[in-house]
Amino acid sequence: MPHSSLLLSLLLIGFNGAAPARASDASGSTLYNACIGCHGTQAEGNPSLQAPALAGLNAGYLSRQLEHFKAGRRGGDPTDNIAAPMRAMAASLVDEQAVQAVSTYLASLPLPAITPSLSGNAAQGSRLYQAKCGACHGGKGEGNPAMNTPRLRQQHDSYLQRQVVHFRQGLRGSDPTDRYGKQMKMMAASVNDAELLDVLAYVSSLSQP
Ligand code: HEC
Ligand code: HEC
Repeated sequence: MPHSSLLLSLLLIGFNGAAPARASDASGSTLYNACIGCHGTQAEGNPSLQAPALAGLNAGYLSRQLEHFKAGRRGGDPTDNIAAPMRAMAASLVDEQAVQAVSTYLASLPLPAITPSLSGNAAQGSRLYQAKCGACHGGKGEGNPAMNTPRLRQQHDSYLQRQVVHFRQGLRGSDPTDRYGKQMKMMAASVNDAELLDVLAYVSSLSQP
């Protein structure tokens, strides 16, 4: 066997040997292949499947949500049938290493373009947002890792609306060990449905490039 092809064979064997035996060995992008069907190839989300954008969210926020889904702290309520399939998907990330790998990968992706689907008064929403949301989520909806808050802009408005309603109804943020969810649950009650539409119209206006 010529030298170069032996080297090639060894390399190929090497690569095969390094192929993931356990999910925890897989890279974030490989793990993400299982998620594309709902969250999209660029993790841009898919409103028709109620799947949020994940691209460019803070890695610490993403991994916390995945751990919450795994533990049933999020999506564990039997009436929450939208989040139920997501619980099974989170469970497929076998260990902390896998959760970290996929979260780091998602955080590195460019922010998605978003088409608003709801309507409200953005000027009114701007005032409400600055008074009730901005201190934690950032003046431009960019999120604040130090406050454990996710980015809100460049996220699908129908998803954001459902989350606030779920927090308000106690479907999210009710578990006594969910510290940060609890903070948001209190804030979700600070806007009524019409005000929420105004806030979301403002957040959508921040999402435009
Ligand atoms: C069957 C469709 C489906 C698949 C497959 C899926 N998800 Fe989801 N995911 C959802 C839905 C729907 C939600 C929104 C749940 C809710 O409303 O609370 C969600 C929510 C999330 C969230 C929360 C985002 C946020 O802003 O809080 C994360 C993180 C997430 N998914 C990661 C993943 C990862 C990683 C995978 C692959 C291992 C995956 N998902 C596979 C449907 C899916
Ligand atoms: C006291 C700080 C605080 C304030 C004020 C606050 N939030 Fe939050 N919010 C949080 C935290 C912390 C989280 C993350 C919760 C978690 O980890 O599950 C969050 C999460 C969210 C989510 C979920 C996003 C996602 O990707 O799933 C939405 C939507 C949201 N907030 C909207 C709002 C809106 C709208 C307002 C103003 C009416 C607001 N928040 C005010 C702390 C706050």
